[in-house]
Amino acid sequence: MVDKALGTGGRKSDKDLKIRVKSAKGRKVSSTKWLERQLNDPYVARARAEGYRSRAAFKIREMDEKHKLFRKGMRIVDLGAAPGGWSQVAAKAIGSTSANPLIVGIDYLEMDPIPGVILLQKDFTEDDAPAMLIEAMGGKKVDLVMSDMAWPTTGHRPTDHLRIVQLIEIAADFAIDVLAPNGTFVAKVFQGGTEHELLHMLKRHFKTTVHAKPPSSRQDSAEAYLIAKGFKDKVEAEETED
Ligand SMILES: C[S@@+](CC[C@H](N)C(=O)[O-])C[C@H]1O[C@@H](n2cnc3c(N)ncnc32)[C@H](O)[C@@H]1O
Repeated sequence: MVDKALGTGGRKSDKDLKIRVKSAKGRKVSSTKWLERQLNDPYVARARAEGYRSRAAFKIREMDEKHKLFRKGMRIVDLGAAPGGWSQVAAKAIGSTSANPLIVGIDYLEMDPIPGVILLQKDFTEDDAPAMLIEAMGGKKVDLVMSDMAWPTTGHRPTDHLRIVQLIEIAADFAIDVLAPNGTFVAKVFQGGTEHELLHMLKRHFKTTVHAKPPSSRQDSAEAYLIAKGFKDKVEAEETED
């Protein structure tokens, strides 16, 4: 049940207009909180108004504004693409069209088609996933690998931590295999979650690595993004080896 809470005397302030959700029988407190947060989240409303499938669309838009990720005509792989907000933003930014799609997205969830994006429904951690992505890209090198993937959490922190690190490692290995010189890798990490070794490896392969927390990423979440730019060719990377 959804209530618009009114203050005393019938006067409405912004605070009063917050939508409160009464807990319903059978609904967990956490689900009620989630629903309340969704209903009061300005990015959820903006995403709907601007035709994006997810509020996540704003995260990549904000990162692009600050870190200049997109340029016309580039090729992109979107890992963990569903429901499709990042791909929608990217397709518009780079001018990808159904006649000449420049983006390949993958998710184990089914997705509605997005013009200019080739979608694969598949678990990215399966052995044949990288080859399928490369084939869908016509065997060509890629300019940006972006990953918003995260496993559903188990609630057991050490397990969740290991699982996310493993996912980022697989995404990073894939990026190193498929990126063209000067390419970019963007991946969801969790604050304090980018393992020292992984960061070290990325620093060897990319000219710059920074962590980003776009304004639309919820402040109370540990989510952050790693942006690695300027992919070095093999020789350059070997020269950086210490
Ligand atoms: C936060 S959502 C991505 C939102 C997306 N960037 C957008 O803008 O709509 C994370 C996605 O990663 C997907 N995912 C997680 N692990 C995956 C895996 N191993 N293979 C493929 N997709 C995966 C989930 O199914 C989920 O759809």
